[in-house]
Amino acid sequence: MDYRVAQDCQDIAEKCRLDRLNGAAKLLEVIDVQAGSPPGKDPVIGTFYRTISDAVVCGDESVIKLLGDVVAQRPDLPPASLANLMFRAVQSQLLFTKDGYPHGYETKRKWKEYIMKLTDDVSFYSELLATLERNTTTTKYQRYLPPLSLITTLCPYKDVSVADLGCGGDLGFPGIIIRESFAEFTDNTGGFVTDATRFEKLGRIQLYAVDKEHPLSDVAISWRFACSYYPSEIIDGEDRREKEFEARIRVGKVGQRFIQADITEPSFPALFGDKRVDFVTILTTLYQLPDSLKVKAISNAKKLLEDDGTIIVQDFFSKDPKNPSGFDTNINWSGPNSYNTFVLSSHTRWMPLHVLGWNGGRCTEVWKGEDFDEFISKFVS
Ligand SMILES: C[S@@+](CC[C@H](N)C(=O)[O-])C[C@H]1O[C@@H](n2cnc3c(N)ncnc32)[C@H](O)[C@@H]1O
Repeated sequence: MDYRVAQDCQDIAEKCRLDRLNGAAKLLEVIDVQAGSPPGKDPVIGTFYRTISDAVVCGDESVIKLLGDVVAQRPDLPPASLANLMFRAVQSQLLFTKDGYPHGYETKRKWKEYIMKLTDDVSFYSELLATLERNTTTTKYQRYLPPLSLITTLCPYKDVSVADLGCGGDLGFPGIIIRESFAEFTDNTGGFVTDATRFEKLGRIQLYAVDKEHPLSDVAISWRFACSYYPSEIIDGEDRREKEFEARIRVGKVGQRFIQADITEPSFPALFGDKRVDFVTILTTLYQLPDSLKVKAISNAKKLLEDDGTIIVQDFFSKDPKNPSGFDTNINWSGPNSYNTFVLSSHTRWMPLHVLGWNGGRCTEVWKGEDFDEFISKFVS
């Protein structure tokens, strides 16, 4: 493959005749944007997306077909989620082949080799497409800092019950229960999130962790690994640090209940019987669902709540009152307010209040959300 540099091309749509992309034009748009600003500013991901984008611009038929097949495999997913899932499926393949990945993959040459193998080898190709049937899964402990702040703000010194829907590896609340500390972050909220007494203010948590996949199945563990790290984090040894963390969590894990279920199914709330919870958290999960299923998951979450209960949604969304789910998924996945924390309850008439805005799914910098003051006056003052 001899790709020209994409920047030369003023009008990508025209140059690569997007009509041949079989509906993958929106995916290509996201890939092209993320080639310039990849998640986590990761150079390996950026170069992967750039190589794909340049190949399409240069009319590489096999890559155009690949994008069409990727979309055909998951027509239900918004383009940003699909671009992320596509990279995760690729990373899963490369981690399995153990040829030194991610070292060396900051270069287009290395990615071209991979893409050539992928598009030439039928079984490698179908394996990738089959992996796309999965949903990405992770558990980033840092993402549980915002719910902890909200829970201890709303119910300081009280015992609470929580259902964590889409718990992934089920490490978040178990980590909180054993008072595992969070990583450093920059707080631009005037100290709302930086609260040194947050663990003091935390009562006991009765936890119900829910996911479609069992967090400890072998397949789930290896897929979670592929989904959990940016390549640069694997190079930095972040994966080893997180494994040690996970070992501490598993040891300290007592009395929690895991429920394997699809949170969008009408029968899901019945699994809780008469039990109602104070908080339902749905973190980094709704983005994986089409709008109609987001609405179903939120409606099920309401059914699990005590009358005065609160739903905490945190995701790559902005608010969209016109959308039946209340959310807009078309936002950039990095930068201020790319990953946001919302609160919904009867006090908000079940519309999301945007309380906190984060700089991405790693939660290393936070700002007040657009409804922060309303949240404080409705729930705290
Ligand atoms: C990206 S992980 C999020 C894990 C954790 N909450 C976090 O924020 O780090 C999303 C999880 O949602 C789960 N999931 C997606 N759709 C689901 C559904 N319909 N029912 C139950 N779990 C679902 C996936 O299996 C995956 O483990």
